[in-house]
Amino acid sequence: MTSRWPDDYFEKNIADRIKAVGHRQYVGGFSDQLWYEIGKLQYHFLVQQGLKPEHVFYDVACGSLRLGQYLIPYLNDGRYHGLDLDQTLIDIGIEKEFYTDIIALRNPRFFVNEEFDFGISPNFDFAIAQSLFTHLDPDDIRSCLSAMRGKCHAHSQFYFTVFLKEGRSPENPGGPSDPNKNWFYRKEDIEDFCETTGWYADFIGDWRHPANQMMFRARPAGR
Ligand SMILES: C[S@@+](CC[C@H](N)C(=O)[O-])C[C@H]1O[C@@H](n2cnc3c(N)ncnc32)[C@H](O)[C@@H]1O
Repeated sequence: MTSRWPDDYFEKNIADRIKAVGHRQYVGGFSDQLWYEIGKLQYHFLVQQGLKPEHVFYDVACGSLRLGQYLIPYLNDGRYHGLDLDQTLIDIGIEKEFYTDIIALRNPRFFVNEEFDFGISPNFDFAIAQSLFTHLDPDDIRSCLSAMRGKCHAHSQFYFTVFLKEGRSPENPGGPSDPNKNWFYRKEDIEDFCETTGWYADFIGDWRHPANQMMFRARPAGR
């Protein structure tokens, strides 16, 4: 099978990877159509789940704002919170994906770190990590779930997607988590990650993701 990534891509640092393929393809938008489709899919899914403009929203691993392009205008002033490990992606998203002064009008807040630290923001009502756990090893998934548990209230809903593989434990890439490599998990692995970090896991499953990523909802346990 031919790779979607250029030769020597995986030897490059993040900034050079983004330069090589562009801010849309870097986050898995392999065509402009797919970029918009996956953004709109998340937007409509969240509104269907009950997201309202007044809710505090966390976009966990917001990347180059594929969802932010829709949710930043939709949410009220200061309600959108985006976090990613890479500042360049956020900067390019802001520069290339918005018209007029919608950013100044809505005041989205951004956080750049690998610890899923949303700082002193209010606890979230809704959050999504779209195509994040698909690129994380088990330790990093647990770190994310634990950090999010510390920022939730009794009715918070944290949606996240995974690649599911049923049956025996799947073979995953060696080495550290990597945004351009894929990890597969069993449903029971995901349930275990949630249970050990203080969440109930609801399996939502197929939500029409073009690469067949499955959706889960985490709700705080014991509250
Ligand atoms: C496949 S992209 C998806 C981005 C976005 N959710 C979307 O739907 O376009 C994965 C993103 O996860 C980010 N990421 C990976 N590990 C992270 C970590 N530990 N903390 C914050 N962001 C991370 C990457 O920088 C990348 O932007």
